Amino acid sequence: MSGSTITPWVIGNWKMNPVKADALQLVENFKQLLQVQPIDENKCYLGFAPISIALTSIQSELASLNRVVYTVAQDVSRVAGMGAYTGEVSAELLKDHGIQYVLIGHSERREIFAEDAHILKKKISNALNAEMTIIYCVGESLEQREAGQAEAVVLQQICDIASVVSAEQWQNLVIAYEPIWAIGTGKTASPEDAQAMHAKIREGLNQITALGSKIAILYGGSVKPENAVELAACPDINGALVGGASLNAESFYQIAQAFANTK
Ligand code: PGA
Repeated sequence: MSGSTITPWVIGNWKMNPVKADALQLVENFKQLLQVQPIDENKCYLGFAPISIALTSIQSELASLNRVVYTVAQDVSRVAGMGAYTGEVSAELLKDHGIQYVLIGHSERREIFAEDAHILKKKISNALNAEMTIIYCVGESLEQREAGQAEAVVLQQICDIASVVSAEQWQNLVIAYEPIWAIGTGKTASPEDAQAMHAKIREGLNQITALGSKIAILYGGSVKPENAVELAACPDINGALVGGASLNAESFYQIAQAFANTK
């Protein structure tokens, strides 16, 4: 037990995966695992982030589970409301479809889709205005880490959004620290390195907001059943954002259990 009062979150980020039949099977397998051995809702928040076209169908599937499992959007438009914005999905329309949670600032969005602080601020602001809960992703590249800039980069990414988050709105934010070099590579930050960065993030949050000690800080980057218990034991690691391992119900379940039981 780490003694933390923050309820852990374990969120599966499916990215641009899987095909429909496999997604339904995954949820069905996860449901069976939860039936055999439930994971207490008060011990761990759980969620899956499917592709946008599957959000509502996965949400209805998740509604038949024996506990709440959130449906999380992987992205949101920088444009608010409705209008002539072909291809975009606004925070208001996500909310209108019953989607309450959203990932913002994932490194794949930052790097592949050139989302900079200016764009991310708009997304954060729109999602908060629509009263969504945001999982805001931060993390440094390998070059930045090797140059000794990891902390500065990560803290800057948090400072980038501070001007659009009001004092009360910090309660609707979760931070996910995802070192880019650990994403999808099989390389995890060591629990010591991850804990050290999480502690810095906590310090940074405490300087920005009175709610700093209450904000969950998730770790992401090759989290798997084999390393979940060790990561969960770190006092400032309040959950996991899981990519690859969330595409397997058993692996995801074991990670969720590690956090529910360790925290
Ligand atoms: P990974 O992805 O677990 O496959 O490394 C994590 C993420 O990008 O959220």
